[in-house]
Amino acid sequence: MTKRVAILISGGGSNMLALLRDMASGDHPASPVLVASNDPAAAGLAKAADFGVPVAAVDHRPFGGDRAAFEAALLEPLLAVRPDILCLAGFMRVLTPGFVDRFAGRMLNIHPSLLPLYPGLHTHQRALEAGDAEAGCTVHEVTPVLDDGPILGQARVPVLPGDTADTLAARVLVQEHRLYPAVLRRFAAGDRTPLFL
Ligand code: GAR
Repeated sequence: MTKRVAILISGGGSNMLALLRDMASGDHPASPVLVASNDPAAAGLAKAADFGVPVAAVDHRPFGGDRAAFEAALLEPLLAVRPDILCLAGFMRVLTPGFVDRFAGRMLNIHPSLLPLYPGLHTHQRALEAGDAEAGCTVHEVTPVLDDGPILGQARVPVLPGDTADTLAARVLVQEHRLYPAVLRRFAAGDRTPLFL
């Protein structure tokens, strides 16, 4: 049976779009049921709507620091669409263990580093400062520990002379758009073997 996929975004949603395009390409084991964001102004919401996918926005700001209350509000539209798989795609809020546990084993995230290197923010700057010869991105299962959890796929790029965080981010992003759809396709078909591009 086709798996129902919900996607959480915070911004432009280029990874989300890569997932939507792949799911629309036919012979895919999953289909999108919702794109939701913590930012009502997230540019990705309009792109998802253009794609014909239902969208929802739950602004985190009125909740202040009350993550659990924000998550309870976010769960309403999410649970209404009964997702089998939840994909974080440029979603920039830390989720509490209570939320993560609800989707244990069926929540994926894409992170712009070769985990376990550089969990958290500023991954490209940190790779440059470390003098790394390679950088990349990781798709992993989400567990309560930030940017941790079983690795489902990685793609690598070279760090080139003269790279800035921006040029490196752009090179990695191209690979994110290849990796995430490929991993989701396998995951939705029941294959959790890591994919290395
Ligand atoms: C991507 O590079 C993604 O890996 C990163 O934010 C960017 C979002 O781009 N995610 C994180 O840093 C998550 N902690 P997008 O909105 O165009 O997909």
